Amino acid sequence: MWGGRQASPPREVWIDVFKNCTGAIVTLGDIIDRSLINEADKLFIISTYSVGVDHIDVKAATEKGGIYVTHTPEVLVEAVADLAMGLLIALARKIVLGDKLIREGGIYDKWGGWLLGSEVHGATLGIIGLGNIGTALARRAKAFDMKVIYWSRTRKPHIEFALGIEYRPLESVLTESDFVVITVAATPETRHLINEERLRLMKKTAYLINVARGDIVDTNALVKALKEGWIAGAALDVYEEEPLPSTHELTKFDNVVLTPPHIGSATYETRERMAEVAVRNLINVLMGKRPLYLANPEVLSIRPLQALI
Ligand code: GLV
Repeated sequence: MWGGRQASPPREVWIDVFKNCTGAIVTLGDIIDRSLINEADKLFIISTYSVGVDHIDVKAATEKGGIYVTHTPEVLVEAVADLAMGLLIALARKIVLGDKLIREGGIYDKWGGWLLGSEVHGATLGIIGLGNIGTALARRAKAFDMKVIYWSRTRKPHIEFALGIEYRPLESVLTESDFVVITVAATPETRHLINEERLRLMKKTAYLINVARGDIVDTNALVKALKEGWIAGAALDVYEEEPLPSTHELTKFDNVVLTPPHIGSATYETRERMAEVAVRNLINVLMGKRPLYLANPEVLSIRPLQALI
């Protein structure tokens, strides 16, 4: 399964599923909005094969008699943190550009044989959003001898203490960091959290990496920042527009690394575990048991669990 936002069956298929089924397994590409949920007279559970539930109108599901919405956090944490670290190193050491120059033969003509990058060890990593993924990334960064600072809606003193990392206001994370990695959840409040004004706060030598959700970064502002050199580069695993058209302005920059959307969790092992959790969530609810991960726990009192199979 791809897991990006593009592989959804046609709307009529979903209307049919939502009208007639007791449970549905969906993924990020499936936009489960209020109008679809309103068709769901028999539906008991929407189990998404993703940690994010921003493609589902969870409030509408709760209001539709208490439809359970379940998801797959935790099992993908380490894989996404690995990708974030990989993107960070790829940017710092220009690995993707180096590969391109070798293949195109431009390394000597264009760069005089030099391809200097930035150091990772000793640099400051700023993490925006210290949830499970942000914490797993902080652990990796400490092992690379980086200084780690973070901003999160809720301060986490126990993690600061355990990992030796420091809290900062958002603006200070942006001004102090050599690498800024976004791992915050997508909510209406985090939409365009990284806008023109905040991008301008970053060091000219700093890199921005987004492995969370595309619309946390204002793409137009990012393109402007890259064009005008406010930052040194960016790496993205998520986009405001998914799939990103191959002609998009972001594809024109040598200092930008782009991965197909949401490959953060795309390892054989992690995707298998996510599938197991998604199915387990579904079966549990249909058997009248608590799912492993419930995104709208208030449904427990609206429509108490009961065995349906
Ligand atoms: C990935 O982006 C997910 O929400 O699982």
